[in-house]
Amino acid sequence: MLLRIGEVTMKFRVGLIGCGRISPMHLQSIRMIENCNIAAVCDIREYVAKYTAEKYKCNYYTNYLDMIDKEALDTIHICTPHYLHHNMAIEAAKRGIHVITEKPMAINYNDAVDMVNTCNKNNVTLSVLFQNRYNRGVQVIKNEIQNGNLGRVLSGRVIVTWNRSDEYYLKSDWKGTWDKEGGGVVIDQAIHSLDLVRYIVEKKAIKVDASIRNRNHKKVQVEDCAEGIIYFEDGFNLSFYTMNYFTSDMPIDITIHCERGTASIIGDEGYIDYVDGRKMSIKLLDSDRIDYGSNVKKYWGYCHYTLIKKVYENIVLGKEVEVNGEDCLKTQKIINSIYESGLSGHSVFLNK
Ligand SMILES: NC(=O)c1ccc[n+]([C@@H]2O[C@H](COP(=O)([O-])OP(=O)(O)OC[C@H]3O[C@@H](n4cnc5c(N)ncnc54)[C@H](O)[C@@H]3O)[C@@H](O)[C@H]2O)c1
Repeated sequence: MLLRIGEVTMKFRVGLIGCGRISPMHLQSIRMIENCNIAAVCDIREYVAKYTAEKYKCNYYTNYLDMIDKEALDTIHICTPHYLHHNMAIEAAKRGIHVITEKPMAINYNDAVDMVNTCNKNNVTLSVLFQNRYNRGVQVIKNEIQNGNLGRVLSGRVIVTWNRSDEYYLKSDWKGTWDKEGGGVVIDQAIHSLDLVRYIVEKKAIKVDASIRNRNHKKVQVEDCAEGIIYFEDGFNLSFYTMNYFTSDMPIDITIHCERGTASIIGDEGYIDYVDGRKMSIKLLDSDRIDYGSNVKKYWGYCHYTLIKKVYENIVLGKEVEVNGEDCLKTQKIINSIYESGLSGHSVFLNK
């Protein structure tokens, strides 16, 4: 299946930095868009860059600045450790290259703001891989809430209990470190679910009160457990509990209690129980599934392709990208406030 956007007069030369575990989700998606041509990939591990380049029939580099200086790229996909997203996005934006970065935007809020400002100044797009926003259940629940069918949103809860073993951390030279990953279960795993609730309810977060602990991963520095409450405008609040020492990746469990019903997201599926007795269940369809290739880890959510396709469509059509940097800054602020609250033991106000 190849997607053709418009008359295909607009052909993008695409580059990707970081040929690790998530990169096939990007490269397979790009390959399915007729308007895109994978020009080059980059990884500091030369054998990984070379292997990926052979597979996708493109050039390869071990230094991303060389790649962006030599390849006349239109877009760059950033799939590197968290601490590198900021600099890589800035360097690309300054050269007029559109940026599509993996989550999180950055390790800290000020760097994320810098990314948004630099992209705006250079008139390029910045998009962040919060692909789960496009899950079918999420879209239906957001619509039901935003068009008023569920009445006022009252409170929400998020439960994310996944498995990230000692081996997972020890195999990586950046996971489990404050300076390179920027935290643990909150910034890396629970970030998607926290982003979803904010995206669905479209409310402004005003205060965070959270605690973070490392309970069961003594070989790494960062938190593997967190809980807290996020207060939003209009009285809505969201409680969360997350840890990554469960023995299996359980489906994420999100509930949003509203005046006229309760909406839930369990893994890839959505459910709504209306107070008048009606029920809706939004199942994943076979046609939703995308083949990202064999030997690719199965991540929660199947919408990398949808998000990436929409970014290119919107650039071609001259429209604002939906999952844009400005919007994603709001989630970044919540994530950094959870850390500030957890480390200080105090509530954190977000509008300061
Ligand atoms: N959206 C999702 O659901 C999802 C899922 C998994 C990972 N991710 C995100 O994807 C990103 C990458 O994660 P991963 O699991 O693929 O990590 P990874 O460690 O498997 O891959 C990172 C790659 O970047 C390369 N690299 C490191 N420094 C570099 C540099 N200076 N220049 C070029 N390449 C460099 C490494 O050699 C490695 O191949 C992270 O931001 C992570 O949070 C997102």
